[in-house]
Amino acid sequence: MVEGLLALRGQPPAVDTTTAESVALDLYGLTARATPLEGERDRNFRLDTSDGRRLVLKFIDPEADEVVVDGQSAALAHIAATAPLLSVPRVVGTRGGELVGVVPLAGGGAAAGGGVGRGGQGSAAVSCRVRLVSFVPGRLMQEVRSPAPAGLLRSVGTRIAHLDRALVGFFHPALAQPIAWDVRRAHALLPMLAHVQPPKLQRTLRAALDPLEQLLQRMRGLRSQAIHGDCHGRNLLVNNAGDACVGIIDLGDMIHAPLALEIAVTMAELLTDGNASLDEFPELLTGYTSLQPLERADVEVLYDLITARVALGVLIQVWRERDGAQTGSDLATASEAVLEELASRGKEDLTQQWLDATGIQSVRMGRRRVVPADLVRRRHNALGANAELSYDQPLHLVRGEGVWVFTSDAERLLDVYNNVPHVGHAHPAVVAAIANQAKRIASNTRYLDTRIIEYVERLTETLPPDLDACLFVNSGSEANDIAWRMAKSHTGHEGALVMTFAYHGITDAVTALSPAICARVPPYVEQIAAPKMAPNDNAAASTTGAAIAATSTTSTATAPLAGADIANVIAATAEADVTNAIARLNSRGFQPAALMIDSALTSTGIYDPPPAWIAPIAAAVRKAGGLIIGDEVQFGLGRSGSHFWGFTRRGYHPDIVTLGKPVGNGYPLGVVITRRALLEKFQRDTGFFSTFGGNPVAAAAGLAVLDVLDKERLVENARTTGDYFARRLKELAQTQPAIREVRGCGLMIGVELTDRATTKYVVNGLRERGVLTGSEGPLGNVLKLRPPMPFRMEHVEIVVEALNATLSASRP
Ligand SMILES: Cc1ncc(COP(=O)(O)O)c(C=O)c1O
Repeated sequence: MVEGLLALRGQPPAVDTTTAESVALDLYGLTARATPLEGERDRNFRLDTSDGRRLVLKFIDPEADEVVVDGQSAALAHIAATAPLLSVPRVVGTRGGELVGVVPLAGGGAAAGGGVGRGGQGSAAVSCRVRLVSFVPGRLMQEVRSPAPAGLLRSVGTRIAHLDRALVGFFHPALAQPIAWDVRRAHALLPMLAHVQPPKLQRTLRAALDPLEQLLQRMRGLRSQAIHGDCHGRNLLVNNAGDACVGIIDLGDMIHAPLALEIAVTMAELLTDGNASLDEFPELLTGYTSLQPLERADVEVLYDLITARVALGVLIQVWRERDGAQTGSDLATASEAVLEELASRGKEDLTQQWLDATGIQSVRMGRRRVVPADLVRRRHNALGANAELSYDQPLHLVRGEGVWVFTSDAERLLDVYNNVPHVGHAHPAVVAAIANQAKRIASNTRYLDTRIIEYVERLTETLPPDLDACLFVNSGSEANDIAWRMAKSHTGHEGALVMTFAYHGITDAVTALSPAICARVPPYVEQIAAPKMAPNDNAAASTTGAAIAATSTTSTATAPLAGADIANVIAATAEADVTNAIARLNSRGFQPAALMIDSALTSTGIYDPPPAWIAPIAAAVRKAGGLIIGDEVQFGLGRSGSHFWGFTRRGYHPDIVTLGKPVGNGYPLGVVITRRALLEKFQRDTGFFSTFGGNPVAAAAGLAVLDVLDKERLVENARTTGDYFARRLKELAQTQPAIREVRGCGLMIGVELTDRATTKYVVNGLRERGVLTGSEGPLGNVLKLRPPMPFRMEHVEIVVEALNATLSASRP
């Protein structure tokens, strides 16, 4: 029975570097320098080729089953197709296009060894199979001891989940290989228990394997698929800092098994090898479930799976030693300590901890469902048939959590679109703040209340000192409406300057200032053209002054420039634009009361011009006697990643700032911030009062949002994740010609695609793949990526992969 199991493979074939180099040349046409690498069963060499590439040449264990060797090639090819961006080895074919080559080896090539593997015989092969794969950079996680640097375990979880998702749909007979470490085959090794010494260890192992029958029964009902099956510290690669998992190698132990086994193996091995402690596992599970949901039943078997796997490791060692193999004794000691710790922490507590960490059970990701026609019909009747509804197959969202939303039939979608849940959907701190205040009183600003005052104090602390007083409303539109009224009353002017295709809201007055929705812009409104950056240089241009070209109402694209010339060109173009716009207003009898500008230039198409662009515009507006209204509805509260306020990044000093969408994280809250004198004049003139504006519940929500931003360092996250996001998208642009430009900054990124139809196709394609996005810009060809602020790098990977898949799929 035991003989049927694969445990010890034959030793790697004896091959020297000279042979490796000549095989590289003969079989693959590569001139390369070979350096020996570690390998448990294959003889591996790193090849540094003359054209600067790094590859790994593997002389395959002669005892490896033909089917298993073929299975590995097939699996790697499958992953290359389903997750081309995942860092695992990629097979490089021989000159003849074969995935596995065969080479003759002098003297048979196989080293002495053998053992208890299949048949247990040393091979007398005279030829050896070879496989060439890409070199996966990184160092072995095994070198990182527990406690691991912050973030590592989470990223290990994410990587493994990424791989598991990539393996969905893969099947091959090799997945049935009888690996001894597969807990489902533990029965074959139970007779070894009798040989375990000392008795205390034997008792510990018996206790660990006691629930085996029941465990196997429960495993039968679990979701199964192809899994790596051996993700431990010797197969996981980490970055230099040791705080991120960057790759996975060695798919030699792949089997078809429950997903839960994948995680249990990792947990068991990391524990026995000392690479992680039990306290770090919630992080691992959070990372895993950020990409691949687990069900309650998966988590509930983890404890027994881990103990069984650890015990099995010792039994295999006993078996091998009885078979004459040399093994170290450390494993038994480490395994015993791990089993004792698991027992002392208790199955119930640990399972509960892990369930809490996974958070989400019983959800599917990104599968299209049909929304009941009845619900759509009822909505038509209730809200009017023309009430906007996203997607041809509308979404019935019933729950949100962080960056995820859930539909009525438990589909989970990654939200890369909504900025209202600024600190994350249903953030518990904001929810609690709203609930606690609502339980006490929801009054209005005609009564004294400390929360609203505290909120103003907190907000104005972050602003230039002259912006020192606030007025409260319930939406961005209302805030802009009031700001516009203030500007007119303060200046005595009637004209407005806005950006091309700007959007500022829905009241009568601000609709007129919103060319994006206003079919006929009135004569007192003039538009300033979008700054146009040189393709694919945008993000760099804003910070480093790289090449830029400018278009305007007066000039079309100019040639890319560099250095100080850039600022001059931008300034000159913007100055011409604004001067002409004011002249056109004047010619119709209007002076500008204000420039109203969304600092993120969102509906204009998402641009991130350097301060040189706005400087002449602001100067000209002031010279003409106008105010500047900074509409921070989109860019406020740190979305740019570099600054808390969008106008600081843009480089202007507003007279009035307006806020909406993100400030209450979903609770309606609009704010107008300005100089106290200006505000007081407006109050005197109008007797302003808004019933709901600034009520204590709204103030509680606003305060909680500021707290969470601080506590979770979300502005910093917007910068690091945003930079990473832009970089990954730019990399994708190299292989996807439909991407014309990636621009924006922080977590406000625009991906300009070739045309409106392509963008619509992409938005729908992403939705099919479980990712919510939208489109922007006058031509409707800018993919808008504007997720909640707790968006992390692992989420970036989901989007990049889904975008790559969508753009690679053949369009109907
Ligand atoms: C820049 C900008 N200003 C104002 C508004 C209007 O805000 P609300 O929808 O809360 O009225 C929006 C809404 O999308 C916006 O994007």
